[in-house]
Amino acid sequence: MSAARRMVVTGREGQVVLSLLERGANDGRFEVIALGRPELDLSAPETIEAALREARPDVIVSAAAYTAVDQAETDEEAATVINGVAAGKIAQVAAALGVPVIHLSTDYVFDGSKTEAYVESDPVAPIGAYGRSKLAGEQAVAAATQNHAILRTAWVYSPFGKNFLKTMLKLAETRDSLNVVDDQVGNPTSALDIADTVLTVASNLLGSDDPALRGTFHMTGTGEGSWADFAIEIFARSKLAGGSTAEVGRIPSSAYPTPAKRPANSRLDCSLLELRHGTRLPDWKQSTAIIVERLART
Ligand SMILES: NC(=O)c1ccc[n+]([C@@H]2O[C@H](COP(=O)([O-])OP(=O)(O)OC[C@H]3O[C@@H](n4cnc5c(N)ncnc54)[C@H](OP(=O)(O)O)[C@@H]3O)[C@@H](O)[C@H]2O)c1
Repeated sequence: MSAARRMVVTGREGQVVLSLLERGANDGRFEVIALGRPELDLSAPETIEAALREARPDVIVSAAAYTAVDQAETDEEAATVINGVAAGKIAQVAAALGVPVIHLSTDYVFDGSKTEAYVESDPVAPIGAYGRSKLAGEQAVAAATQNHAILRTAWVYSPFGKNFLKTMLKLAETRDSLNVVDDQVGNPTSALDIADTVLTVASNLLGSDDPALRGTFHMTGTGEGSWADFAIEIFARSKLAGGSTAEVGRIPSSAYPTPAKRPANSRLDCSLLELRHGTRLPDWKQSTAIIVERLART
């Protein structure tokens, strides 16, 4: 049997990179290698080429990013270097090495004004600094190499790092009730499901030169809801698992101002990913249950 191929993922402690390390070990098709600071520092793009060459990838997953959406509003230059310039550099190195690059992007490239779920060909129009910086990354990746899959995801949660699900459970340890925004809708997406999908997409890219497998794809959990719906589901599952729980009050986003404006509609239509790559993420409620139960056991 041939040795597992090397999947080099950017970042060390991010939700997606930790999920890929876990799922990659179970899956066996790839040896997953996390590559991050100090060897690879996206805020210093000149570090990228040597670090990636040294790691000898068969496929590169560009998962590291400046993800502090509110902070980006007053730090757009740094966000643009990391999410735009560095993403482009990673893709240039992938092209030079002759390997595919899978680049993670976001629903924030859209303005959220569409009433239906967004498809890949919908016009982009980011409403904040983070979205602009991620769009710059998509454009730089596409300009650097044809051999790419840009996977746009949204509302990511996992047992790792910082995310909405963990924040809700933590707040419920000290509060009986919480007010949660109810006028933004999206598709909650488990980073563990993202990892499974990335492994499949990587395998497909390495297995075929077909241009239909390349380009931009939407990749979110199946099903939709508001942040309040998500919180209610988290607490329903947590109650069953013996964890913390709180009553949820539904509020408009105008009652919860943040430095960065969020799209009202974040829903992404993932039909193209299913058609071309033969994979669809599980229902978000099913994945929420799995992660809440796992956290309750730890
Ligand atoms: N979280 C979401 O809700 C969401 C939604 C849509 C799209 N996305 C996209 O999905 C991808 C993965 O997100 P995530 O949730 O896994 O992110 P995350 O948990 O916030 O982790 C960010 C990762 O980026 C790395 N990083 C940040 N600055 C870096 C730098 N200068 N040099 C090297 N590495 C750096 C961090 O490194 P350390 O490990 O060293 O801390 C960490 O591994 C990102 O491209 C993000 O834009 C996320």
